[in-house]
Amino acid sequence: MINNSTADIRQKFLDFFHSKGHQIVASSSLISNNDNTLMFTNAGMNQFKDVFLGLDTRLYQRATTAQRCVRAGGKHNDLEHVGYTTRHHTFFEMLGNFSFGEYFKYDAIQFAWELLTGKHLFNIPKEKLLVTVYATDNEAYNIWAKDIGMPAERIIRISDHEGSSIYDSDNFWQMGDIGPCGPCSEIFYDHGDHIFGRPPGSPGSKEESGDRYIEIWNLVFVQFNRQADGTMLPLSKPSVDTGMGLERIAAVLQQVNSNYEIDIFSQLIKAAAEVTCTTNICSTSLRVIADHIRSCAFLISEGIVPSKDGRGYVLRHIIRRAIRHGYILGATHPFFYKLVTPLIEIMGNAAEQLQRNKNMIELVLRNEEEQFSHTLERGLSILEHELAHINSDTMDGATAFRLYDTYGFPLYLTVDVCRERNINVDQEGFKKAMEVQRKRARETSSFIGYNHNNQYSSMLNIAYCTNFLGYENVTYHNSKIMALFCDGKPVEVIDSINNNNNLNSIVILNETPFYGESGGQIGDSGELKSDTGIFKVFDTKKYGQSFCHIGTLSYGKLSIGDKVIAYVNKARRTCISLNHSATHLLQSALRNVLENNVEQRGSIVKDKYLRFDFSHNKALENEQIRIVEEIVNKHIRSNLIINTTNMSIDAARQKGYLLVLGEQYHQSKVRVLSIGNVSTELCCGTHASRTGDIGLFLILSESGIAAGIRRIEAVTGEAALACLHQQKHLLQSISQQLLKNDGPNLIEKVRSLKDRTKKLEQQLNHINNQQVVQEIAKLSSKIRKINGAQVIVSQLENIDQKILRTIVENMKNKLGSAVIILANISEMKANLIAGVTGNLTNSIKAKDIISTLTQKVGGKGGGSPEIAYACCSDITAIPAALSHITIMITEKLLTKNV
Ligand code: SER
Repeated sequence: MINNSTADIRQKFLDFFHSKGHQIVASSSLISNNDNTLMFTNAGMNQFKDVFLGLDTRLYQRATTAQRCVRAGGKHNDLEHVGYTTRHHTFFEMLGNFSFGEYFKYDAIQFAWELLTGKHLFNIPKEKLLVTVYATDNEAYNIWAKDIGMPAERIIRISDHEGSSIYDSDNFWQMGDIGPCGPCSEIFYDHGDHIFGRPPGSPGSKEESGDRYIEIWNLVFVQFNRQADGTMLPLSKPSVDTGMGLERIAAVLQQVNSNYEIDIFSQLIKAAAEVTCTTNICSTSLRVIADHIRSCAFLISEGIVPSKDGRGYVLRHIIRRAIRHGYILGATHPFFYKLVTPLIEIMGNAAEQLQRNKNMIELVLRNEEEQFSHTLERGLSILEHELAHINSDTMDGATAFRLYDTYGFPLYLTVDVCRERNINVDQEGFKKAMEVQRKRARETSSFIGYNHNNQYSSMLNIAYCTNFLGYENVTYHNSKIMALFCDGKPVEVIDSINNNNNLNSIVILNETPFYGESGGQIGDSGELKSDTGIFKVFDTKKYGQSFCHIGTLSYGKLSIGDKVIAYVNKARRTCISLNHSATHLLQSALRNVLENNVEQRGSIVKDKYLRFDFSHNKALENEQIRIVEEIVNKHIRSNLIINTTNMSIDAARQKGYLLVLGEQYHQSKVRVLSIGNVSTELCCGTHASRTGDIGLFLILSESGIAAGIRRIEAVTGEAALACLHQQKHLLQSISQQLLKNDGPNLIEKVRSLKDRTKKLEQQLNHINNQQVVQEIAKLSSKIRKINGAQVIVSQLENIDQKILRTIVENMKNKLGSAVIILANISEMKANLIAGVTGNLTNSIKAKDIISTLTQKVGGKGGGSPEIAYACCSDITAIPAALSHITIMITEKLLTKNV
């Protein structure tokens, strides 16, 4: 056998399939903008999903890739196994070969066998390999048995899971709940009888099957398109999708029994031991950390940051799991972020994306570690306490929930810790306790079920290809209706009966000038007119290669086959295009003003404004914002030509053009957009023809949206002008109407006004204090002593309410044992206040005094036993009410033993 490095194996695989006529295609992003059915890219075939479904085409019919995958969260979730088995990872690379309707089972099996066993290829001894096929797949069985010559005892048929429906089998692969799928044949490697393990198909769970027989390659024969309701629609062109875990085949070829012993992992584990100061190199925790740093670093490099929901939640989960394992090893300070540098060195060429985003990855990891360390320490000590007192092998759900709810200690960590002590956690009980927090539960689970294409899913088997004409036209006179949908169901006609004013009707045309939402640019709106009807388009979205014109029928009817004139709302489209071109200028200016490695992290291009998220780890200073604005406006005034050319994606990559992360570049040709010599990017959006059209660019706000990610919102053209006018008008109004100041020294004027206000406030305070002193002196002369307490009941005039309270509080302090009742008449209304010192509140309460008074004088009031207020309007009743309360208080004080 050959002793290959992981990098060599990757290259050998791609070269082998290239020699068999396969196009080498780059790994796609870990996140897909176009497929919300997927949490993360989990297989090599994801980027070709639409090609398998016949919704998209490529210039090639055979492809090969080394695809970065994350299996955590979503349908294929290996997170809980990681560290405890020799072969599961959150992040791994999947080597694959694909046939789009060209070769099928025979060639797929022949290619795999040749590569695995070929003398000058992987040269694995044939007797070390065994295979599985789907129980009823005789075709695959016979190819293995007759063509390859595999002995029958090493071909295992795998049935559907017991008690489940057809195709629910380990040998039936599907990407998600919907989409391409089919029976598969898996190739296993036997690591030898010195390792525990049962052959595939043995009873028991996957964990129980041990590590002797390891699946190294999965050959999927893609035959169906699974619908949301479970129906399997046969595909017109059966295809092939294969996947071989790079780390697993590396273990085989490097003659080690665990993925964690291959070259890259042994180096990573060494680095993890160093940063956590661990000497036991065999520790499970080191494996967990070495695995998790790869998924975390790659996910962050793609713009994902830890958060409470969706992808960010899964990332947070993985980071925290790694931190806890560091804690087990005794790490007391942030350590995880320190693995980014060794990771980049170890991954070599495959880490180019990490190198570019190194600072941000480290920053995000460090932030999360610092935030989480306190929660972890406290949660673990409480959990230890609970575990010390547990009498059974199950921790109850309420305790797990209390840890989560009160101490923020996540359930998965409780499960993880308990698992190490062979204790189960009653997760059902946890869920019940969690029900009260439904909102958060929704947040954390919503992603997986969320599918924004759901309303179109019934169209999965409809493969129209709409020709987009909107770069040159905003009106097109000769479009034909190919399909119609109402409420997600295909219909022949949209009329007032089935449309019924709902906004969920969809028209699909053969050709359209309407831009379908993509690349951050929103879809066009407008109108479709035929001889028989008018359809208002509110939005346009792409599904595969079909453009969905979403809207409502406003008149008549539309039928499949009708010709329509398609009118894009031109004014709105113009604004969108200006904003899109300005976004490119903004990105280029940011690269000039900040570091050159500013990376796009998201973008929304609307008609009213543009939003651009980018990697940068601190807030922009006002001066930097001004310079960015100035650069963009300078390019606008230069009236640069905006040009587009089409080229192959590889040519674009070689030229170093910016590929936007998360974007899938499906077509063999990409559109390269250049603005003068200022910016060149791949872009499918619509743009101005010259930068001068943008008119004006104005930044509205700059803010942070997550660690290491900033957001700029800006406006262009008329919106920017309107914004300037509004600001100008505001300033004029302030200066002319409020400040009566036409001169240029507005700031001076406002500053002097502020100074003056401050001085006046000081003077007013002084006067108020004097008034308090004077009033207290006057009131002191009215004190009556009753049974050791001092009582003041008095009527005042025109005293500010705050001062009134200060008077009462000061007098209570001064007199020590007192009841003070004041009625202040001002503007024909009376404010009543009663204050009682704490020593008297057992027998006399301020709020009772106020309540007695308001019964006499009307109005409303309230307060505490020590101070209470009321406001009333019948001022004529005040003197009598005060006399009445004086008598009552006197009686109370005399009868009480105070
Ligand atoms: N899609 C299949 C898998 O992930 C083969 O690539 O196993």
